[in-house]
Amino acid sequence: MALLTQAPRGTQDILPSQSGDWQLLEKVMREEAELHGFGEIRTPVFEHTELFLRSVGETTDVVQKEMYTFNDKGGRSITLRPEGTAGAVRAMLEHGLYNDALPVKLYYFTSCYRYEKAQKGRLREFHQFGTEMFGSASPLADAQVISIADSVFKRLGVKDLTLEINSIGCPQCRKTYLEALKEYFSQQKEQLCETCLSRLERNPMRILDCKSPVCSQIAQGAPKVLDHLCPDCAQHFQQVQKALEELNIPFVVNPSIVRGLDYYTRTVFEFVSRSTGAPLTLCGGGRYDGLVEEMGGNPLPALGFGMGMERVLMVLQAQQAELPQKSRCQVFIGALGQEAQMAAFRMAHELRLSGVAAACDVNGRGLKAQMKYADKLGAAYSLVLGDDELQSGSAQLKNMKTGEKHSVFIGDGFVEQFAAIEAEDQLKEDFLLTMEE
Ligand code: HAM
Repeated sequence: MALLTQAPRGTQDILPSQSGDWQLLEKVMREEAELHGFGEIRTPVFEHTELFLRSVGETTDVVQKEMYTFNDKGGRSITLRPEGTAGAVRAMLEHGLYNDALPVKLYYFTSCYRYEKAQKGRLREFHQFGTEMFGSASPLADAQVISIADSVFKRLGVKDLTLEINSIGCPQCRKTYLEALKEYFSQQKEQLCETCLSRLERNPMRILDCKSPVCSQIAQGAPKVLDHLCPDCAQHFQQVQKALEELNIPFVVNPSIVRGLDYYTRTVFEFVSRSTGAPLTLCGGGRYDGLVEEMGGNPLPALGFGMGMERVLMVLQAQQAELPQKSRCQVFIGALGQEAQMAAFRMAHELRLSGVAAACDVNGRGLKAQMKYADKLGAAYSLVLGDDELQSGSAQLKNMKTGEKHSVFIGDGFVEQFAAIEAEDQLKEDFLLTMEE
């Protein structure tokens, strides 16, 4: 029976009591992306497996161990997307978006799938807010993309977050660096895990990203890529730092960041939180100037980031951040008697048609139980209809938080009166809040 009543390991349901927080996050992220001129793209949940092999890289943990890959009924190898960049690049190329004014700026909300060891902050299905910018090699573009993530975190009130940046150079500086790595890791060959042994030949940089405790311990003493940058890459990195300073975005240079995906070049960055114990990366990204060409397009510099929605929420919860909750019920209409019940039913319907989230009882409860139900719904206001109210055409609208009552007409004009009362109460509440602060 557990198979029927338990979600698969590493997946989560998002319940109505939690979806308000998700909607708030999505709203802030969407607003920031659009403020920066990014347009939303939605790509399929699954793609041809080849796409991820090519872009994410065959020697990465994601491709080697974590992809959900299967043959469909037509015998094609299909993979559930483990990240959002590959699909965005594929769609950009397929639809010729590079013909638009450059840079092309895309953002997305996606679910991602990785068969990882499920633990706190590490899921098998998780969600990303991502941005991708195509067609600018300028260090200002790096700072601008980073600034989107920074603004999102600031607006959400995420505290104690460190922006860590690094440069992993271009294919040219990579050559000498890979040789230095190969030499270093060859000396410790006996201790490396089996996957890393094959990485030693094919792509020693991936050893730096191995999650095995022994390999990551050895990786700590490995040569640093910053010491091997070519003059152009070194200059680019300097300019990114200057641009971040210009925007007043604090950062630290962390020469150990290499990122777990193969497509990166030059700037890489992570926003790291230490609020939940072990360091947790809430957002990671960087440049991938060679990927568009690698996937068959004309060379086009690009960069972006992916932000883990579950992780952002986890940290906000750990920090006991108070995310404003919107009530799903603005007015609850209670009723006393059969005639009033029908009137309440009709009034709630008419209010909803005018855009007011109204509710009434449809289960035949008594008035006391109706008001308990209104409380459970988190109704912001309530009013009760009975014979007197139906006859006089007016009722008492009660603010459920303050207990304050207002006399209102229940026919035409109610919506306008209600909007005015709601706005006035909100002003009072805001005023009291500022006095408290
Ligand atoms: P990534 O570092 O693999 O980069 O993932 C980005 C973010 O997704 C992470 O920083 C983390 O917050 C979240 N994340 C990753 N794996 C998990 C997991 N198993 N459970 C929960 N959250 C997770 C990318 O995916 C790149 N596509 C980012 C990018 C876009 N680079 C350039 N453009």
